[in-house]
Amino acid sequence: MSDRYSLLILPGDGIGAEVMAQVTRVIDWFATNRGMSFDVSEDLVGGAAYDKHGTPLADETMAKAQQVDAVLLGAVGGPKYDVLDFSVKPERGLLRLRKEMDLFANLRPAQCFDALADFSSLKRDIVAGLDILIVRELTSGVYFGEPRGIHSDDNNPENEGGRVGINTQRYTSGEIRRVARSAFELAKRRGNKVCSMEKANVMESGILWREEVQWVHDNEYPEVELSHMYADNGAMQLVRNPRQFDVIVTDNLFGDLLSDAAAMLTGSLGMLPSASLGAVMENGRPKAMYEPVHGSAPDIAGQGKANPIACILSFAMALRYSFDQGSAAAELEAAVEKVLADGVRTADLMGPDGGTPVSTSGMGDAILAALD
Ligand code: NAI
Ligand code: MG
Repeated sequence: MSDRYSLLILPGDGIGAEVMAQVTRVIDWFATNRGMSFDVSEDLVGGAAYDKHGTPLADETMAKAQQVDAVLLGAVGGPKYDVLDFSVKPERGLLRLRKEMDLFANLRPAQCFDALADFSSLKRDIVAGLDILIVRELTSGVYFGEPRGIHSDDNNPENEGGRVGINTQRYTSGEIRRVARSAFELAKRRGNKVCSMEKANVMESGILWREEVQWVHDNEYPEVELSHMYADNGAMQLVRNPRQFDVIVTDNLFGDLLSDAAAMLTGSLGMLPSASLGAVMENGRPKAMYEPVHGSAPDIAGQGKANPIACILSFAMALRYSFDQGSAAAELEAAVEKVLADGVRTADLMGPDGGTPVSTSGMGDAILAALD
């Protein structure tokens, strides 16, 4: 692996550009103070790209995204673009990136910073110190399987209404093995533990899922601890005792639900990072895109109120999972933790007792000071 890291920054729309400006400062800090070298280029996505090129993602931008070690994306969309035809909506730019880079593993961490434990919908003693990672298969399963559709069910007189809706849960062994490999690789950089979730008790695709995950474990990652759990029990365990998990790997549908539930264990939308990974490239790094979970927040855009932490923590994930810089990632996370412990808050993190919130760049200042 070379230790030069190429990054394509796509700030996008609304608060995307505002939070990304703080990430750029953090990148510069690591270049200056930790001797890392980044090749950073910046381009347009979403509405910003539509305004300039008439498309939410230009072909040249797509080509660049295919070549870099990691894409960092802010957010796309906004009311100005609601009238656009579906084919050029800002979100299509994001979908094109995910599809053409074939980002099949969606990573959603649920990390609870001690200072924010009271923001959780669960009790502090259940969530304090929580640090888990849900890996959701993103490009197959019931959202894509054929046959699908709504058909008339004329030959069935007992069917009141006369229609039938069909979706198909379909997974190939190869699709399961590749996302399982991602999960085991990630676990090696964390707590070395994977829990795979499916419904092997009632679904054949779940039986295949369990067998293939076990196969990848036994043949390629015997040193990582693997367990299996039915996804409904998994949902219960996530709210009963979430700290029992390290990495959870699951399919597209269950992952959609479980990652949204897990997100709420930690509080504000402004705190949630994510990543999407694809196949490992020649240089040993996976294709990767990192982005906050939140959108472009038109209600606060342009006011300097946005919390940049979700985007900054997305960059921490890039350090850990694309660049194998786990200690730098931990250093950045510790700086965020310290700033929160010191009581520095953007408006979205203000409790009922009030106080004075800092601006987007004020939060950036505080995180850089904590790094120093
Ligand atoms: P949103 O995530 O933009 O905002 C939801 C609420 O959370 C708003 O009240 C917003 O002010 C607040 N919020 C979000 N991020 C914040 C942050 N970093 N700091 C402080 N407060 C924050 O979702 P919404 O309002 O449903 O969508 C707005 C636009 O964003 C739409 O055009 C939507 O299509 C797009 N969108 C884009 C996403 C992406 O780029 N990945 C994801 C979700 C929505
Ligand atoms: Mg969802």
